[in-house]
Amino acid sequence: MFAVYAEHVDQHDPLAGLRVGERPAAEAPAGWTRVWVQAASLNHHDIWSLRGAGLPAQRLPMILGCDAAGVDEDGEPVVVHAVIADPDTVGDETFDPKRTLLSELHPGTFADEVVVPRRNVLRRPASLSAVDAACLPTSWLTAYRMLFTRSGLRSGDTVLVQGAGGGVATALISLARAGGFRVWVTSRDEQRGQRALELGAHEVFASGARLPRRVDAVMDTVGQATWEHSIRALRPGGTLVTTGVTSGAKLPDVDLNRIFLLQLRIVGSTMGTRAEFGALLDLLDTTGVRPVIDTTLPMDQAATGFRRMLDGQIFGKIVFTL
Ligand SMILES: NC(=O)c1ccc[n+]([C@@H]2O[C@H](COP(=O)([O-])OP(=O)(O)OC[C@H]3O[C@@H](n4cnc5c(N)ncnc54)[C@H](OP(=O)(O)O)[C@@H]3O)[C@@H](O)[C@H]2O)c1
Repeated sequence: MFAVYAEHVDQHDPLAGLRVGERPAAEAPAGWTRVWVQAASLNHHDIWSLRGAGLPAQRLPMILGCDAAGVDEDGEPVVVHAVIADPDTVGDETFDPKRTLLSELHPGTFADEVVVPRRNVLRRPASLSAVDAACLPTSWLTAYRMLFTRSGLRSGDTVLVQGAGGGVATALISLARAGGFRVWVTSRDEQRGQRALELGAHEVFASGARLPRRVDAVMDTVGQATWEHSIRALRPGGTLVTTGVTSGAKLPDVDLNRIFLLQLRIVGSTMGTRAEFGALLDLLDTTGVRPVIDTTLPMDQAATGFRRMLDGQIFGKIVFTL
């Protein structure tokens, strides 16, 4: 079958190992099912995979992609939940220490078809196109859990989103607005800041800028470059939700004084549960909120999308169609 896959990994030149071609279709073990992919979206995770993060050499070649929308074996429209947990996990599957994301251990979604556990297939509301639904399983679900499960925010609170253009950042802006929060955003780029305002942000600031007052919570997917600003932005008792390290994972100079004196909460968050995914689908169905799409490309032009994400100029999601 047609697939986009990592043939080898390279920490410094991630696109060197990217291939578009033919791969054998996977067998569906008992309890698993096949989804025919109509659309799949790109995440920074796919670039980390090509750099070798979470994808050891012995698992190569590996079909990339966490997110897909398509049709199931009965021809019904569905969307795929990318978190593959132990089938015996009870409760929150993101806490299963052995969980993986599609494309880490099992072949991913950038292909004609993907094989997943039955519980990872959710019905797609009729109001959602395959392209819109394909944006949701990673970026949007992550943003949903950060805001509505992990942050402690209540409607009327002020949230700062670090970065405007990324898939998670644009999801955070839209969902925070839908959740009734006051939404502040930083961006390195004036134009992307302007687009964040059009998307619903109440105020936009240059990355690292002094804010008019402190916020109740910060959503940070950037890591090293924004950490200090995120900590300084919080009111006493405020919460920093961290979920990504696009600019780097190491923190050279952390002032613990501020963290304990202001009683700040530093909270990790990763992906989301099947139940949260169901709630996210309902939210989009009832509110009409939709993902911002930067670019839609036929999947055989996936390399163009990867390059665009690496350049760091995107605003919204990159979607591949079949
Ligand atoms: N833990 C999880 O479950 C999970 C799930 C999804 C994503 N993630 C992680 O979250 C991160 C974001 O992913 P993504 O798919 O949204 O794509 P992305 O392309 O990494 O998003 C880039 C975002 O980071 C901002 N940014 C990048 N470099 C920056 C810098 N030096 N200073 C300030 N802002 C910077 C950009 O804002 P501007 O360009 O507007 O400044 C943009 O909003 C990735 O690291 C990804 O691995 C983690």
